[in-house]
Amino acid sequence: MSGELSPIDAAKFVAAKRAADFVEDGMRVGLGTGSTAAWLVRCLGELVRDNGLRIKGVPTSTRTAALARDVGIDVIGLDEAKWLDITIDGADEFNGDLNLIKGGGGALLQEKIVATASDQMVVIADIGKEVEHLGSFPLPIEVIPFGWQTTQALVEETLISMDVLGRNSTLRMNGEVPFFTDEGNHILDLHLARIGNPRQLALVLNQIPGVVENGLFIDICDAVVVGFGDGRVEVRDINGGTVERDKLDFVETDNLFSDLSD
Ligand code: 5RP
Repeated sequence: MSGELSPIDAAKFVAAKRAADFVEDGMRVGLGTGSTAAWLVRCLGELVRDNGLRIKGVPTSTRTAALARDVGIDVIGLDEAKWLDITIDGADEFNGDLNLIKGGGGALLQEKIVATASDQMVVIADIGKEVEHLGSFPLPIEVIPFGWQTTQALVEETLISMDVLGRNSTLRMNGEVPFFTDEGNHILDLHLARIGNPRQLALVLNQIPGVVENGLFIDICDAVVVGFGDGRVEVRDINGGTVERDKLDFVETDNLFSDLSD
């Protein structure tokens, strides 16, 4: 294993590397956003350059699009692709049903659209992302800027009747100014501590005017590839009910490991 990578980065890397095995020649592939997804994009780029893998990549953010182009992946938009064979993306939390919290990187809207338009969604995550109950990680929701404070008040009022422990929310900032998503919206992070009924909460939040989408991914993920700091990986398939275990050895190469800033 690498002396350079922290155990968390090594876990993210091996999850991404193992997930790259899901991608076959000719596939249209949804490319997630975040540091784990960035490893995946790098791994796929290497396969494109060195092994002649031919894929079309549909990125879920402007930064993933830039990275994918950089590493030589043929990038197309979702409208051109229409439907995808697979989407591979990171997550902030996943539970035993493979329901997720996503949006830590602010790309949840495109991520959910792209994952939903795919035959299968594979999540790549380090083992630290596994939880018994979703909600320790603040739940991101994307809201339109118009009247966002009113939307926030409506969301907090709605949370009173929901099975959650915490109820306050914060506007995500980018330094001194509000964060803007690629769609020009804001993100509210909901500090819920524990979500008793994620399915109900996901439905109710999306009923509130001003809420564009929430970061709960319910019944969207088909498999999770879990990475460990020592190079072990587990592939858990929710449909087949199977768990495959493996151990990856890797050698750092300049191409894959240099300048990874995401
Ligand atoms: C971005 C996301 C990411 O997948 C999530 O935040 C995990 O990121 P990382 O792989 O950097 O831990 O949902 O919107």
